[in-house]
Amino acid sequence: MNPSSPSGAVGPPLLRSDDIVDRVSALAAQIDSDYAGRDLRLVTVLKGGLFFLADLCRRVQVDVKLDFMAVSSYGPGSTGSVRITKDLDDSIAGADVLVIEDIIDTGLTLNYILKMLRARGPASLEVCTLLDKDVRRIVDIPVRYTGFGVPDRFLVGYGLDYRGHYRNLREIYTMDEEYLRTIAG
Ligand code: PRP
Repeated sequence: MNPSSPSGAVGPPLLRSDDIVDRVSALAAQIDSDYAGRDLRLVTVLKGGLFFLADLCRRVQVDVKLDFMAVSSYGPGSTGSVRITKDLDDSIAGADVLVIEDIIDTGLTLNYILKMLRARGPASLEVCTLLDKDVRRIVDIPVRYTGFGVPDRFLVGYGLDYRGHYRNLREIYTMDEEYLRTIAG
């Protein structure tokens, strides 16, 4: 599989680069308006959220600090329990924390993370996701900022991966169903 040549594996872009850029700029403007004069901490869950974070944080005007965490799911049947493989570097006590995600699907990952972060005493805790696959939601997640609602399809690009590939694509694509069936054997 060649990540630089997605033809066959993916269909036409679901979201084009220009649309993503425009939406990220609009979200940044909202964040500027809401967080003026505050101690804003952007917290991202690796790896998928990294691309959205990188573009968003360069468009906001308010001063921000960045921090990162990484999690590993305990797998199917775990009811959303995740293992923290990389915790935040800094305390978030008293900070205005905005969690940046590339996509919310079932909501289980974020539900776990939000509970954990809330216990650390931030001044505020909100969520900003580029994509919301809300038809798949199992637990309700309070989302303050959403880029795009998306259908229940396997998406890749702009941080989203298929087996580690395609994260670096500038646009967001739907994986070809026939291709996925062939690969699954
Ligand atoms: C994706 C995404 C969210 C999670 C959403 O991460 O970045 O963290 O899945 O799914 P959920 O709402 O069903 O819990 P993934 O586990 O694919 O890891 P990655 O960011 O490293 O690709």
